[in-house]
Amino acid sequence: MAFGKVNDIDDGCFYDCENHTLSNWILRELRSNHAGETGAVAIYKGILWLTLDPTVIRFAEEHLGSERRHLAAIEGILPPTKRSSLLLLWSIAGFLVGMAPAIFGPRAIYVTIEAVEQFVVRHYDSQSSV
Ligand SMILES: [Fe+2]
Repeated sequence: MAFGKVNDIDDGCFYDCENHTLSNWILRELRSNHAGETGAVAIYKGILWLTLDPTVIRFAEEHLGSERRHLAAIEGILPPTKRSSLLLLWSIAGFLVGMAPAIFGPRAIYVTIEAVEQFVVRHYDSQSSV
């Protein structure tokens, strides 16, 4: 199992980007995280596509910014060739997960986001416990 060399270079990479010596386990987990963050970005786009509630719009725009930063952070680590080939599906699914509750109003949106975030916390907890 070869892990990437950790370094402090200030180019957005947190490891030896030229050699891409991340282990298969790390690549698999990062691929999963990248797909999830892709879906998260799409969730907030789906909410913003439909909602007219100003409080929800502020909430979704703030969270969309956070999810875009998460996605960019992973893209700084995970080479494009190692990303999921199902990203379009993740985007479509995420958009629908955001748009569908927006049909029913703010409460449905917040309940959906809470459920998604609880799943995300369990996912990252399982990764950090390895
Ligand atoms: Fe995120």
